[in-house]
Amino acid sequence: MTAHRIIFDTDSAVFNDDAAALAMLAGRPDVVDILGVTVVAGNYPVPQGAEHMLHLLELIGADDIPLYLGAESPLVNSPAHAARQEARWGPVSFKGAFDATDRVVPPQGGRFAAARPRTTGAVPFIIDTIDRYPHEVTLVAVGPMTNLARAFQRRPDLAALVKGLVFMGGNARVPGNVTPAAEFNFWFDPEAAHAVLAMPIPDVVMFGLDITNHAPLRKSLFDRIVATDTPLTRLMRHDMAPRFEADAAATYHVWDCITAAWLIDPSVVTASERLPIAVETSFGATYGGSSVATAPRPGTRTLEVMLDLDLEKFFRIYEELLATPPTDPAA
Ligand code: RIB
Ligand code: CA
Repeated sequence: MTAHRIIFDTDSAVFNDDAAALAMLAGRPDVVDILGVTVVAGNYPVPQGAEHMLHLLELIGADDIPLYLGAESPLVNSPAHAARQEARWGPVSFKGAFDATDRVVPPQGGRFAAARPRTTGAVPFIIDTIDRYPHEVTLVAVGPMTNLARAFQRRPDLAALVKGLVFMGGNARVPGNVTPAAEFNFWFDPEAAHAVLAMPIPDVVMFGLDITNHAPLRKSLFDRIVATDTPLTRLMRHDMAPRFEADAAATYHVWDCITAAWLIDPSVVTASERLPIAVETSFGATYGGSSVATAPRPGTRTLEVMLDLDLEKFFRIYEELLATPPTDPAA
């Protein structure tokens, strides 16, 4: 089998979930060829997010994968816009980069990774890569879609030249996770999600909250994974142990990791439907929300919407890829 060529477009994380997803994909170079990591504002501002991802790549010995800095802010949404939304329609439970300072803190261990971001920006990298490998590149978007929207704004013809788009974002038939209506990645940049989903990309697969809600990570599995002591599991412990220490019944959503597992083994998904998904871009209580469109609307695209998964298989892949023991240098 030839490896899928992918661009991993991410809003980053210390470990869960963007970094864990990247570690999973990088652990299967036989299936996935990561042409580059592009960072977008979302969970973190881009400079901080880039440091998280460079640190991860160094830890797993994959720092030959190039990393590119992308859009620092969404197309329309902004901290001021979010404040207006909250004042009028109630809280947004997580605002990611909108609540962050400009200070970039070093990753775990107190030292920045040796590899630095490439000087080319994420958008030119995305454009050049699709031009270089027409019909071969899968865009894997696990953050707000601002980088992709900007690439397609510059070159609308590229949409027909990508192999496909697989993304984590949105909610078809379940409530949102940052407002009653909206999932975080779509809420942070609804206009980008709307614009990208309106493009004639041949194959679009959505991993929204409908599927990701089904896979809570519990302490028992976390404990088993971190019992294998590696640089990666030390990072996992550093990021995720405090919540489990405070509450043994706590759970984590591992959103982006489900997208990664499917790229590695598509049989992990057990239910999906082709559905017309609409993204709400009007400024109101449901800003950034998504839903199954009941009537045809311009820009509403029918997507493959993933709905359920084989939990045992998913967590087996997750564990295998994150708890790989270090290779014995003497072997
Ligand atoms: O709503 C979940 C998504 O928002 C995940 O991609 C998470 O990493 C954040 O970006
Ligand atoms: Ca993410």
